[in-house]
Amino acid sequence: MADNLVERDTPVLAMGGGVIGDLAGFVASTYMRGVPLVQVPTTLLAQVDSSIGGKTAVDHGHIKNSIGTFYQPRLVVADIDTLQGLSRSEVSNGLAEIIKSAMINNASLFGFLEKNMDALRSHDVFLMEEMVARTAAIKAGIVARDEKDTGLRNTLNFGHTIGHAIESASHFKIRHGQAVAMGMVAAARIAVQMEKFNKKDLVRLKKLIQRAGLPVDIPPLDIPLMIKKMEHDKKIVDGRTRFILPSAIGKVFMADDVSLQMVLQAVESRDEED
Ligand SMILES: NC(=O)c1ccc[n+]([C@@H]2O[C@H](COP(=O)([O-])OP(=O)(O)OC[C@H]3O[C@@H](n4cnc5c(N)ncnc54)[C@H](O)[C@@H]3O)[C@@H](O)[C@H]2O)c1
Ligand SMILES: [Zn+2]
Repeated sequence: MADNLVERDTPVLAMGGGVIGDLAGFVASTYMRGVPLVQVPTTLLAQVDSSIGGKTAVDHGHIKNSIGTFYQPRLVVADIDTLQGLSRSEVSNGLAEIIKSAMINNASLFGFLEKNMDALRSHDVFLMEEMVARTAAIKAGIVARDEKDTGLRNTLNFGHTIGHAIESASHFKIRHGQAVAMGMVAAARIAVQMEKFNKKDLVRLKKLIQRAGLPVDIPPLDIPLMIKKMEHDKKIVDGRTRFILPSAIGKVFMADDVSLQMVLQAVESRDEED
């Protein structure tokens, strides 16, 4: 950018998936202490999640997202037409975050997904547009109330505490959306054990995740390594891992009192609820 004499009022256009968005956003936020940023997300995940909220980051050393900034784009342009060329697994990857958003905040979006999942996976343009708009609005609403991630924004981590541990323990062979899907089921199983979440709703969640082309049961992984990763996760409060758990479809709560025993039981459980 310096070689090309880019000045402070020249905007950076981040067109691509979440990787491009995070990298271009980081560059825009640091070059000359910040130039205007426009996000043009082209994956489902980027349209509903990474382009919104102003978190930018790059990986450093062995740590994901270890260097980054909070930097809001001036504009986010999500064009549904760009999604036509995405593979089925890329669509599933984005659907994991969409199911997450419905679970934490919006039972009616959950119902919409149950009704339309098959059409959505076949790229029905009108339904896709509605889904992206609704999910983007959920994330924008949460971020607007807690931009710097000190409370409410934590709820967006539903499925991610165990999900990140799965990703790491698989040495990133398991993709983020798949890991989050399994993490959501494990979190829901913990909530059922605590008698805070209904078993019938756990079955509904599992069915929707499976119809999205995503896994529900965690494959045999190095469990001690997973637990270690979870303990090193940044969502630790006073030495205990904080979990976001569902209390209903569309509602979550924060739990700091989840025992290791409960986590192990949830991680090791296999499809036995239905
Ligand atoms: N900043 C945030 O708040 C936030 C939130 C969630 C995820 N992320 C980050 O986002 C990244 C994941 O994003 P992603 O899932 O978009 O992955 P990605 O950027 O790697 O894109 C996935 C693949 O799709 C390709 N692609 C992009 N647009 C396409 C299109 N229109 N048609 C066909 N192929 C296309 C890409 O080249 C890539 O191969 C991770 O690095 C994650 O850390 C950031
Ligand atoms: Zn995620």
